Amino acid sequence: MRIAVLGTGVVGRTIGTKLVGLGHDVRMGSRTADNERAAAWARDAGPNASHGTHRDAAAFGEAVFNCTTGSGSLEALEQAGRENLAGKILVDIANPLDFSQGVPPSFTVCNTDCLGEQIQRAFPDTHVVKTLNTVNASVMVDPSLVPGDHVLFVSGNDAASKAQVTSWLEDWFGWKRDNVIDLGDITTARATEMLLALWVRLYGLFGSPRFNFNVVRGQIGVVE
Ligand SMILES: NC(=O)c1ccc[n+]([C@@H]2O[C@H](COP(=O)([O-])OP(=O)(O)OC[C@H]3O[C@@H](n4cnc5c(N)ncnc54)[C@H](OP(=O)(O)O)[C@@H]3O)[C@@H](O)[C@H]2O)c1
Repeated sequence: MRIAVLGTGVVGRTIGTKLVGLGHDVRMGSRTADNERAAAWARDAGPNASHGTHRDAAAFGEAVFNCTTGSGSLEALEQAGRENLAGKILVDIANPLDFSQGVPPSFTVCNTDCLGEQIQRAFPDTHVVKTLNTVNASVMVDPSLVPGDHVLFVSGNDAASKAQVTSWLEDWFGWKRDNVIDLGDITTARATEMLLALWVRLYGLFGSPRFNFNVVRGQIGVVE
């Protein structure tokens, strides 16, 4: 597949490298065409890797990964161009965290709205699927770094797009299908974005990002 990865940080580079390794053609997008991190990544990742502006990348990709900083995601996606995002799946990994006052961060949007919803509202012709935002970049593409069962969540309005992304999570990144929980429509991304409040605290406690959440269920169908 031709895939756009918007973002030159550790998430964009980790996802991009994994996808290139699987034989996909990946174009990394940045705010500028000559971003040094993107150029170095493309050089190291090999002939199936390229880079350009967000617009270049989004026009190239059959699917798009949003790996930009949460407070800049809407701006980055505007730069990508709605015509280049229309009809495509947008895997939204970004979290709306504001570190301007230090750690722990606050949310730029939360409670009654979230970044995933803001993106879906701004780009109604794009199929936004929020996922992977609750784990560290290395765990995203290699869940075996955390032993045992642990979960990912998917949120989105389009059932077919969520099913497609779930297949990608399994086939490309190695997540067990039973460990991918479809939470519902894009409003459910409020919960996974706000889960970062706990994630950041656990990171501070453990001193390592190689952990994840699990959900353990009792008897199904019992209502109390
Ligand atoms: N780090 C993790 O393990 C992890 C885990 C889960 C979720 N996430 C989420 O994934 C996203 C990427 O995280 P990251 O750590 O890889 O990198 P990051 O430093 O949060 O984001 C880097 C990217 O954001 C872009 N950016 C920054 N300010 C911008 C603005 N005002 N307008 C448009 N674009 C802007 C940068 O653009 P340029 O390329 O032009 O400089 C760069 O491509 C974040 O939303 C983060 O919350 C991260």
